[in-house]
Amino acid sequence: MCGIIGYTGPRKATEVLLSGLSRLEYRGYDSAGIAVIKGKKLQVTRKQGKLSVLIEELKHSPVGGHTGIGHTRWATHGAPNDTNAHPHTNHEKGITVVHNGIIENYSDLKKELIKKGYVFLSETDTEVIAHLIADNYDGDLLKAVRDTLRELEGSFAIAVMRREEEGRVVGARRDSPLIAGIGKGERFLASDVPAILEYTKEIIYLDNDEIINITPQGHSVHDKNGSPLKKKISRITWDITQAEKGGYKHFMLKEIFEQPDILRRLISKRVRKGRIFFEELSISPKDLAKIKDIAIVACGTAYHAGMVGKYILEKEVKVPAWVDQASEFRYRDPVIGKDTLVIVISQSGETADTLAGLREAKKKGATVLAVCNVLGSTIAREADGIIYTLAGPEIAVASTKAYTAQIATLFLFTYYLAAIKKVKGHNEKNFINEIKKIPEKAESFLNAYHTKKNVLGAYAAEFHNYYLSRNNKSCFLYLARNINYPNALEGALKLKEVSYISAEGYPAGEMKHGPIALIDENPWVVCIAVRAATYDKMISNIREIKARGGIVMTVMTEGDELAKDKSINYVIEVPDVREELSPLLVVLPLQLLAYYVAREFGYDIDKPRNLAKSVTVE
Ligand code: G6P
Repeated sequence: MCGIIGYTGPRKATEVLLSGLSRLEYRGYDSAGIAVIKGKKLQVTRKQGKLSVLIEELKHSPVGGHTGIGHTRWATHGAPNDTNAHPHTNHEKGITVVHNGIIENYSDLKKELIKKGYVFLSETDTEVIAHLIADNYDGDLLKAVRDTLRELEGSFAIAVMRREEEGRVVGARRDSPLIAGIGKGERFLASDVPAILEYTKEIIYLDNDEIINITPQGHSVHDKNGSPLKKKISRITWDITQAEKGGYKHFMLKEIFEQPDILRRLISKRVRKGRIFFEELSISPKDLAKIKDIAIVACGTAYHAGMVGKYILEKEVKVPAWVDQASEFRYRDPVIGKDTLVIVISQSGETADTLAGLREAKKKGATVLAVCNVLGSTIAREADGIIYTLAGPEIAVASTKAYTAQIATLFLFTYYLAAIKKVKGHNEKNFINEIKKIPEKAESFLNAYHTKKNVLGAYAAEFHNYYLSRNNKSCFLYLARNINYPNALEGALKLKEVSYISAEGYPAGEMKHGPIALIDENPWVVCIAVRAATYDKMISNIREIKARGGIVMTVMTEGDELAKDKSINYVIEVPDVREELSPLLVVLPLQLLAYYVAREFGYDIDKPRNLAKSVTVE
């Protein structure tokens, strides 16, 4: 995790670094720091806490200069405090470093360096890099960085400066993201694009073991042996306003509301003349036709999207499909081979476990398709084929719009694959007609349940009062069946992530095998009972909960008679849609509920405690 940034050019480095770090804070926010060079003076300021603490500190002791590096941290080695905050410096040689990733052999390297007389001030693995570069330095910073990379094991993206070299920053990466921004008379380094989008749209995506040297007027990229590389400059087509709050109080709320537009854009991009296309997918229809089974691998919210994918793929493509958490998949020696299509799903495209799962699958000869949101991310580049989810930058740590974009993409891919495999009874046209109606239905739900009257906000306020009145004893249980079961897990995950309230998701059929024991007047039970083949079964589950004094909130189909049932405590009606597409609508109230419960408790919704947007370490 962690976010890094580097700058050299005519602007005040502090301003560029702080504005970039504010857009990288989702990657970690337990401490932050910057280093700026002015003349031959290196000024390092580091503070425990959120970026605002560092900003306050710099107001009192401003730092001048036009070349600098910055960091926002999510602690892995050493507690989050001022001393462990980056940048880390070798004072003797004036080498200062920011780092995102983990140096796995840092303890051996540290022992060696201590033997040589280097003194360590922090508990971090990063400080090893600063001393090692100093140790390798022999008049050429680029060479010193290159030599250091050879000794490092693990993952990293680094930005490095030398006190005596104002106007120069060196960056390098292995398995952690790093991009360079090309401006007029200025250059940038960053963990991802939004950090520098305010200044430039011309981006270089660095690959593993590449080293970049930036100065205001130029840049050069080299491989690990020092040979120069010609790198393509990509132009970003989205805008910084897309990465900002756009009038909403939190990114999470903004991103929930972006969903209808994202789905509209995504569907119109993928559907032309009544057929489904994926321009960037470089796996040929011929190869896809040979697929005999499908394994889906992902983490967190992307895993829940993958669960929805499993239901629909198996149903429509008629091949066995299963889904694994990437952290399990990578270590359990899965039975896959050349006939398996492994679909890895990742918003960031940088999640360490998912990336490891991808590599494991490739090693076993499977064809790997990545469903990713971030363009040019490591997972997107390493997979055999890629489909982008086109959701735009997701900033809130709790994923919302990436989830629905992943599900919609998996739906579209399912029908694309079914057509390729000529599955009997497959009806692409009918599906396209139905999915095209989803954006409008999502919009009408958000309108009715939020814009006109904030229903979920009111329910959340009631829950908050109830929770306090019961001495914080309440919790949430989410129940659903079939293709909405993943939504029960996702609803519970969202609530846990942002409101820290205990919540569990269960397939409703499992109620009698345990969770029913929880039912008394304490938990709030969210029952997803939209129009579906298992509707009657869900109604029986609701009755069982009511019979035991439980508090029930139902998500049901608009106009359902059940809405009139006075014994149901809280009712949410979503527009009618055929069952397989319902997850795209059902999740909306679940996301809003989590958001508003967190707001009632006054939590930092976009940056929940202990979490990070992109988990690039195991
Ligand atoms: C973290 C994030 C989640 C996300 C998961 C997988 O835990 O907080 O929101 O779902 O990582 O991330 P990915 O980028 O691979 O989708």
